[in-house]
Amino acid sequence: MTDRTIAVHDDGEGDEPVCNSSANPTFAGIVQTRLSRRGALLGGLTAALGAMFVQPGGAPARAATPSETMLGFAAVPVSETDTIVVPPGYTARVIAAWGEPITGTMPAFSLANTGAEQGMQIGQHHDGMHFFPIEGRSPYEGSSTDGLLVMNHEYIEPRFLHASMRGGRFSASAVRIVDGKRDSDEVLKELNAHGVAVVRIARQADGTWAIQRDPRNRRITGLTPMEIGGPVRGTPFVRTKYSPDGTRTRGTLNNCAHGVTPWNTYLTCEENWAGYFRNGTVVDQKPDLPREHARYGVRTERSRYAWELAASGADEFVRFDATKRGSDPTQDYRNEPNAFGWVVEIDPFDPNSVPVKRTHLGRFAHEGVVFGPVTEGKPVVAYAGDDAINEYIYKFVSAKPYHAATANGSLLDEGTLYVAKFNDDGSGEWLALAPGQNGLTPENGFGSLAEILVNTRAAADRAGATKMDRPEWGAVDPRDGRVYFTLTNNSRREETQVNAANPRARNLFGHIIRWRENGDDHAATRFTWDLFVIAGPEDSSRDLAGRPLTADSIFACPDGLWFDAAGRLWIQTDIGESAMNRGPLAPFGNNAMLAADPVSGEIRRFLTGPMGQEITGVVTTPDRRTMFINVQHPGATTSAEDFEAGKLTSHWPNGEGYPRSATVVITKDDGGVIGT
Ligand code: FEO
Ligand code: CA
Ligand code: CA
Repeated sequence: MTDRTIAVHDDGEGDEPVCNSSANPTFAGIVQTRLSRRGALLGGLTAALGAMFVQPGGAPARAATPSETMLGFAAVPVSETDTIVVPPGYTARVIAAWGEPITGTMPAFSLANTGAEQGMQIGQHHDGMHFFPIEGRSPYEGSSTDGLLVMNHEYIEPRFLHASMRGGRFSASAVRIVDGKRDSDEVLKELNAHGVAVVRIARQADGTWAIQRDPRNRRITGLTPMEIGGPVRGTPFVRTKYSPDGTRTRGTLNNCAHGVTPWNTYLTCEENWAGYFRNGTVVDQKPDLPREHARYGVRTERSRYAWELAASGADEFVRFDATKRGSDPTQDYRNEPNAFGWVVEIDPFDPNSVPVKRTHLGRFAHEGVVFGPVTEGKPVVAYAGDDAINEYIYKFVSAKPYHAATANGSLLDEGTLYVAKFNDDGSGEWLALAPGQNGLTPENGFGSLAEILVNTRAAADRAGATKMDRPEWGAVDPRDGRVYFTLTNNSRREETQVNAANPRARNLFGHIIRWRENGDDHAATRFTWDLFVIAGPEDSSRDLAGRPLTADSIFACPDGLWFDAAGRLWIQTDIGESAMNRGPLAPFGNNAMLAADPVSGEIRRFLTGPMGQEITGVVTTPDRRTMFINVQHPGATTSAEDFEAGKLTSHWPNGEGYPRSATVVITKDDGGVIGT
C-alpha cells in the first residue's frame, strides 16, 4: 500500500507556526498608529554622514565618491516571465546551479543522481551567500577575479530532487512514503542537498565565471559532524546517544541567511529547523513536549520530510525522532532538536575544519546575522532576527575586545545576548538575556545561562521584548553605522496589536526598520529608531521622504538586505509561493531585487526573477564590478495537478526540464561598478 502524505513548506507567512503565546504586548494600546502619522513613523530624514566607520575585516569603508551615482540604472518593470531581467547595459549569467559537481569524483548532474552523488554537488535552494577573495585575509579586500563562493542551501523540493516522483501528483514538499517507510537513499539525498557549499570560482578570459576544482571545495550537509560551542556546550540540554557528553552533533539544517565575521569566517543560520523533528512523547494520553521543543514548533506527529522513517533505521536518520525512550537521555534523541536553532561558524579556507555551533548567539529561527563596525579594542557586536510571526530582534555583545591580530570565533562564546524593545516614541532598549536580569531567575524557570539560551524565545518573552512582523535580514550602513532590518510581513497582526514599529494590521507587504545606537556605540543599551520604508502598492506605501512608491519602486515582502561598500542598500523580496502573482500580491509580479539610496530614500527596481522563486543572497567582488545573487525555488508555484500533468511553472535556468536554483553573476557591459 502506498501512503503519500504531504508536508508543506512555503516560506511565505502561511506555514510559519505561531509559537509565541506570551502575554507581551503586541499592541500599543494607546496609539492607533496609522501610515498618515508620517512624522512619528518616518522621521529622521537627516543622515549625519560625517563619521567614517571601519568595516568588519578592518578595511575602511569606501564611501561613494562624489561622482558615483547611487542609482544610476534604469528601473526594470515588474515581471511575470520565466527569466532574469536586469537593466539595459547589464548582463546576467548563471553559475553553480543545483547539482553542479564540485568535489570528490565530480559526478555530473542528472535527475537520477544518488544520495552520495548529491553530497559532491551543489545543494538545492540556494540562499545566503558570500564571496571570499582567494587571498583569505579580508572579506572586503583582495581579488575580484578569484575566490571562494560560500552559500547556504535552505531546504529542498522533493518532487524535483527525486526521479521516483516524476509524474506523481505531489505538492511542492510532499515526500514518498511506502508502507510507512521512506527510501533510505532518498533520505540521504535530501540531507545532502541541505547545508552549505564552498566552491572556488574564477573569472575567465572572456569575462564569464567558472567553477574551479580546488581542495577547499566542500559540502557541509545535514550529516556533517559539528562541535557545540559556547555556554550550552556540555550541558544536559544537548546530551544524546551520539554525544553523551553534549559536545557534538551532526549537521546543520534550513540554512537561511548568513553572516561574515570580522575574522573572515562564514556564519550559517538555522531557520525553520523545528519542523525537521518530531517528538511523540505522550504522558496521560497527551503530547508532552518540553518548552525548548514546544515554543519552537517541533511536531508531535511526523516530521516535515519524515527522515525518521528511513527504511535502513540508521542512527543518523532515526535521530529526527525526539521521542523519549526511557530514563536515560544518552540512549535516545530526546535532546537532538536542542542541537539546532543556532548560528554555525565555518572556516571556508580550511576544508578539514569542524563547524562550530555558537550557542551564545541564541536559539531561534535564525534568519541571518550581521556585525556592527569593528573597532580595535572594542567589543564585537552582532545583530540577528528570529523570522517567525511575532518574534524578536536580538544582538550579541562580546565580553572580550576585538583585536584584529588575534580575533577568532571564541569571541562569540562569551558576552551578553540582548533582545530589542521598540518604544512608540522612537526610542528603544536592549534587554539583557542574562541570569538574574529582566526576570530571568531560577524561580521563573531560568536556572542558568544555558537554560536561557536553549529557551531564547521564552527568555525574550519574559524580558518583555517587542513582537515584530517576521524579522529577516539585517544590514549595517558602512557610512553612518545605522542598522536596518527587513520585516517581511505579518498577516496575523490584528488592529489591537498594532504598534509604532509594526504600524500596519494584517501586514501583507512588510516594511524596513532602522535604528541608530546611542552615541553611535554598537554596544549601547539604548537606541533611536524609525521606519525606512513601508512597502506595498502605490496606494499603501511610503518611502523615507513620505512619498508613495511608484511603478519603478513598488515591492512587497522584503527579505534579503545588504549594503555595498558605497552605502547602496540592496533589497530582495520573498513573496511566498502561495501568495505571489495573485490577489493583493499580484501587482508586484515575480520576486525582485531593488536598490535604495539610504540618504534620499529613493528606491528603484534593479532585477526581476523567473517564475515561482525568491531572490536572495547578494554580494559583490571587492571592486564591486561583479555581483552574485541567488535564485531560490524556481517553479515552486507548480500545483500538484499541473505536476501530475507534466506542466511546470518554470524551466529556469535551462529553458527546459525541471527548474534548478542557481547563482546569477551580474556584470555591467562597460565593466563599471554595479548600480552606478
Ligand atoms: Fe529563510 Fe526567513 O527566510
Ligand atoms: Ca524566505
Ligand atoms: Ca529569507
